[in-house]
Amino acid sequence: MKSITVKAPGRINLIGEHVDYNNGFVLPAAINKFAIVSISKRSDQQIHLTAIDIPDELIIESFSDLVIYEKKWANYIIGVIAQFQKKYLFEVGFNLAITSDVPIGAGLSSSAAIECAVAYGLNELFEFGIDKMELAFMAQKAEHEFAGVQCGIMDQFASCFGKQNQVMLLDCASMEFQYYPLALNEYEIVLFDTGVKHALANSEYNTRRLSCEAGLKLIQEKFPKVQSLRDATMLMLHEAISEIKQSKEYNCCKYVIEEIERTQLATQNLLNNDLHAFGAKMYATHEGLSILYEVSCPELDLLVNSVKNNPHVIGARMMGGGFGGCTINIIKSEFVQQIISDTTINYKEKTGKNLQHYLVSIEDGVHVI
Ligand code: GLA
Repeated sequence: MKSITVKAPGRINLIGEHVDYNNGFVLPAAINKFAIVSISKRSDQQIHLTAIDIPDELIIESFSDLVIYEKKWANYIIGVIAQFQKKYLFEVGFNLAITSDVPIGAGLSSSAAIECAVAYGLNELFEFGIDKMELAFMAQKAEHEFAGVQCGIMDQFASCFGKQNQVMLLDCASMEFQYYPLALNEYEIVLFDTGVKHALANSEYNTRRLSCEAGLKLIQEKFPKVQSLRDATMLMLHEAISEIKQSKEYNCCKYVIEEIERTQLATQNLLNNDLHAFGAKMYATHEGLSILYEVSCPELDLLVNSVKNNPHVIGARMMGGGFGGCTINIIKSEFVQQIISDTTINYKEKTGKNLQHYLVSIEDGVHVI
């Protein structure tokens, strides 16, 4: 029986956080942590899912049973199959086994890695001929409909389009993107994993998105030409929401407008090899995410603050959706081990928790192995 094995990576994001669903720019890259799926056709209409790492199994009797199940891990897969079902016909069922080393809840897009691996694998095995951009959108839809997170496109895009040693500047309005070699010279990217994921993370993510939409509506009442926060300026924001300044809507929009501009400037810094200017913007992003957007948490703030005054760390910030997960740090290579060890001890002292760290390399997006 024909079978296929596919590998899809998690991602980091250098800068441009919580702006993908506001038509902004993001600067992600795929990393050396992967979900791997193996799929083979069956002769009947059943779908057999196996989560190797848990381990667990789910048998779905037919394609008419593609609903949300109690087994959370399965929903990321079923959500993707359901997207295919909307437009394409599976002539037979299949066996699908999955394993992943993308840490769960660490803000490295473990779910996007699963969704993209499944989407890419099914497309190859059943020869549907769907292009990678559409597969990324189908994977995103799976997250919306089966995981309940109204995420933007960044994670699924990065998992699909990653390229070794390159970051991608993605314009989330046009979906045009460009690869840039990541030249960190004598610096390295280190991720510190708080080991926490706060229970409200998903619902808070969705409310931030709603706050942005509510703020945008107010801006549009005065400036009808504005289509998204990408087109808005601080001046417009002041005129539109001045009377309820400090509201959630105001703060969220302020952060997003600033972050969209910051990401474009930061990309220029990176291209001009001005890593210090780039790093300063990472700290500014963290402050915005923590104070204005309110998606940080004490553990993330602690980690960023603990490296902030270290001359060998040029930038650090929380990464991804927030409320736990990782910070991304750019650290001078020769001090990496020392800083990891100091930060680990400090984190344990202050929180009682063990700190995980990841040294990432930048890898290719989804592909058959
Ligand atoms: C999560 C979402 C992304 C993006 C980030 C924040 O990872 O899946 O779409 O919004 O949060 O930048």
